[in-house]
Amino acid sequence: MNAKTGKEFHFSDKDFEYIRAKVYALAGIALSDYKREMVYSRLARRLRALGLKDFASYCQLLENEQHDELGNFINSLTTNLTRFFREKHHFDYLKERFLPELYKNDGGRRRLRIWSAGCSTGAEPYSIAMTVLSGLPRGWDFKLLATDLDTNVLEQARQGELNESMLNEIPKPYCQSFVERQSNVAASNAWRMNATVKSPIFFKQLNLMNTWPMKGPFQVIFCRNVVIYFDKPTQQRLFERYYNLLAPGGLLILGHSESLGAMAKRFSAVERTAYQKV
Ligand SMILES: C[S@@+](CC[C@H](N)C(=O)[O-])C[C@H]1O[C@@H](n2cnc3c(N)ncnc32)[C@H](O)[C@@H]1O
Repeated sequence: MNAKTGKEFHFSDKDFEYIRAKVYALAGIALSDYKREMVYSRLARRLRALGLKDFASYCQLLENEQHDELGNFINSLTTNLTRFFREKHHFDYLKERFLPELYKNDGGRRRLRIWSAGCSTGAEPYSIAMTVLSGLPRGWDFKLLATDLDTNVLEQARQGELNESMLNEIPKPYCQSFVERQSNVAASNAWRMNATVKSPIFFKQLNLMNTWPMKGPFQVIFCRNVVIYFDKPTQQRLFERYYNLLAPGGLLILGHSESLGAMAKRFSAVERTAYQKV
């Protein structure tokens, strides 16, 4: 323990600047000065796990390309808060307005592709899949791509396990169709998403800052509460790339505190933070 700072590990301005530049370069995440304490507490766990004596040693380790700490580093600095049917109005809009229109006017292709970008532990893609599957017309080919940078949350998403408070976020009729009870597991994860809702979802690790393997087009892209961690130029580049991957008339859905900025002129606002490609 450092007598002067009262902290377990020495954490200098230089260390913070190094970490800030590294996470920006790797993940596009822009950390402001007031995130310094957060960075300290999240990475202190890594220093303990690795038996390191200070942040300078940790930064040195990150610099060593042979070491596979980068994944843990990124996983530690992402913020993964999510919940089922978060911003419910987006799911209502999809079910009551957007999808019925699409089912009527798709020119016989019967193909629905949705992307949940920054899906965290899966509450968002499972909410989308339940919404779609509960009204999907016969013969439609529906696939949902769910991606995140963070490998820990993706693993949880794949498992699709639920505790009681998660279960309470899901409307009862959906629970009946898409949730099953697990036997022989701890009560904290007594339920899980069933095979019906899991089958159209493809979970993949993807860093939004890198090149994307998929070609699209997607009819809907959810990117909610993700760009809030990026700076404006990074947001604009990302919106441009989403625009290019959306089908004509496709929908881009952002989080409640996010906006399109200059890219707004290429979309029309159809619902709170939901934008249609024009
Ligand atoms: C706050 S969660 C949002 C989850 C969900 N979309 C929602 O609104 O409930 C933000 C997610 O974005 C992911 N993320 C952050 N930077 C990313 C990047 N560069 N590429 C891909 N995912 C990223 C994080 O790992 C985290 O799981």
